[in-house]
Amino acid sequence: MRIAVISDVHGNLIALEAVLADIERQGVDAILALGDFLSGPFDPVGTADRLIDLGIPGVRGNHDRHIVQGRDNDWAVDALARDLISPIHMDWLASLPLNRVFEQEVFMCHGTPAADDVLWLDGTEVEGGVFHVAREKIEQEAEGVDYPVLLCGHSHIPRTLRLADGRLVVNPGSVGLPLSLGSPDARYGLLHKRDGGWTVDLRALPYDNEAAAAQARAGGFDNWATAITTGWSTPYEL
Ligand SMILES: [Fe+2]
Repeated sequence: MRIAVISDVHGNLIALEAVLADIERQGVDAILALGDFLSGPFDPVGTADRLIDLGIPGVRGNHDRHIVQGRDNDWAVDALARDLISPIHMDWLASLPLNRVFEQEVFMCHGTPAADDVLWLDGTEVEGGVFHVAREKIEQEAEGVDYPVLLCGHSHIPRTLRLADGRLVVNPGSVGLPLSLGSPDARYGLLHKRDGGWTVDLRALPYDNEAAAAQARAGGFDNWATAITTGWSTPYEL
């Protein structure tokens, strides 16, 4: 079985289309999605239409929740997406669960199994460096989540590791908003179940990020344009 894993699209439909085209070339049995679908100054409406059409099993990200709940202290792009999307898009966002299990083997969450806004594997320092979360904490978050593969997003930092008991944890990185690593490529993951268990490839694709940056600039979000053309920005600069 081959499964593509996408996360943190952030409304960047141009990056999403590049990833979907690559997934098509790879040939997969399923695509799974880990949240933060629309929150960005690119094309939240087009992204919502595309994702709803595809019918991909997904979980909600913290920014999906912020769009639905209408929090006051969210990113400006959450309010932007909230104003643009239709009731159908909003119903779809509101229907996304915190967690989900695919084929009894693959557990999906956005942050950690318990929270959509907590970093599981990695995080970004305010000054821009990337840090690894401590091993004990990573193991603790996985307690009782007894599936061979555990998927998460949220950090936008691609990484894969094995827990002490052999379970595989995978963060595929971000499709539409690369952060902190200096790589502007769109990221996603490919899982493959072979005789010996699950393996994963973390993929990085160049795409027309100048076209996406132009969408951000047109909306007055020059910082987002910088983020997706350099790959160096931190979450604190958005
Ligand atoms: Fe995100």
